[in-house]
Amino acid sequence: MSTTAMQGSSNEPLDIAWVRRQFPSLQLEVDGNPAAFLDGPAGTQVPRQVMEAIQNYLLQANANTCGAFLTSRRTDEMLAGARAAMADFLNCSPEEISFGPNMTTITFALARAIARELKPGDEIVVTTLDHDANVAPWRALEEKGVVIRQADIREEDCTLDLDDLRRKITAKTKLVAAGYASNAVGTINPVAEITRLAHEAGALMFVDAVHYAPHGAIDAKALDCDFLACSPYKFFGPHMGVLYGKKEQLLRFRPYKVRPAPETLPDRWETGTQIHEGIAGVAAAVDYVAELGRRCDPAVKTRREALLAAYRATGTYERGLATKLIAGLLEIPGLTFYGIREPQRFHERCSTVSVRLAKGTPLDAAKFLGERGIFTWDGNFYALNLTERLGVQEKGGVLRIGLVHYNTAEEVDRLLSSLREFSLD
Ligand SMILES: Cc1ncc(COP(=O)(O)O)c(C=O)c1O
Repeated sequence: MSTTAMQGSSNEPLDIAWVRRQFPSLQLEVDGNPAAFLDGPAGTQVPRQVMEAIQNYLLQANANTCGAFLTSRRTDEMLAGARAAMADFLNCSPEEISFGPNMTTITFALARAIARELKPGDEIVVTTLDHDANVAPWRALEEKGVVIRQADIREEDCTLDLDDLRRKITAKTKLVAAGYASNAVGTINPVAEITRLAHEAGALMFVDAVHYAPHGAIDAKALDCDFLACSPYKFFGPHMGVLYGKKEQLLRFRPYKVRPAPETLPDRWETGTQIHEGIAGVAAAVDYVAELGRRCDPAVKTRREALLAAYRATGTYERGLATKLIAGLLEIPGLTFYGIREPQRFHERCSTVSVRLAKGTPLDAAKFLGERGIFTWDGNFYALNLTERLGVQEKGGVLRIGLVHYNTAEEVDRLLSSLREFSLD
């Protein structure tokens, strides 16, 4: 497996006090209780470095691109720097990085462009585990006669059924769309292996790395996927989306675009004026993770090495929290747990956990927790195929608890005791 989330060891343990100092919003209180942000899968909090970068851009560089004056030149430099940062983050070349408003919009635009080469009867494989942003853009191509096949899960542990996936990939398959990690149940998919299966069939591979990005280092080169999308607001940045594409694929397909806009990389896939202040924040988010990595392993030399060191440290830390969380949840009478639960298999999952309680709906539980300053999500989180498959869609979905590296063992304890209180109430 090519994943590093929740595996490996770093030189220094995570300095959680330093981490929390970087995130001013973690100081929020709800009726005298400190806020516990266990809502990371829907968007993480932002370190002060990101806020400062956005403010600095707006103060000192706010302009459109390619003009013959100071702020425009600063904007061009900022964009080049942000592309280089994301290239380090995904291990690719800067010209293989395109920015956009969010992963969903990027994926719809890419699917539409890829469809220019598809004909009726061509097939695309999606999965039951995926967020709808990696299903609906491909399903939309059914209007052109494209056939969508859906690889199932193994219900007992919410992992992808790879035998079913192999059966669904045929000589007619033109693209396989799979997620790196499930935003509902935390399963990490073997995406390098799935990419190999797609390529053996002559199909393209599209990876939705949105949920994996805050938990593990991504290596687009090692995965060998053709496209990969992620959303910086899930990894401590602002609300934005990023697309990686192999250079030859970005040049092969033709995006829908205005005529004067460049056909060349890296601008080719960026339609209209970009969210420049957001992109400045994306670069700062990558640099925040790198700074964390340098603190964990002062011997690292490059930014990429620093990022890898950070993810080694956060992976170990998050695995510790998830072990405590899952053990505590499994002791709550009548609780239904979805996904991998055995600690020896935690390298196959990240620290995002979904449950249903015997009492009340997931919304009832989320409200009860919210009143105590504990932020969790209820519902389907747009992983609609999955909640339907698990038979919970009509019953309010599940309660999702998401842990990232700024969460603490005390927060896990507070969550567990509140859930026990809710269950007994
Ligand atoms: C796994 C996954 N994929 C895709 C998306 C959609 O991302 P965006 O909000 O950037 O469109 C989300 C958002 O929650 C997600 O969790």
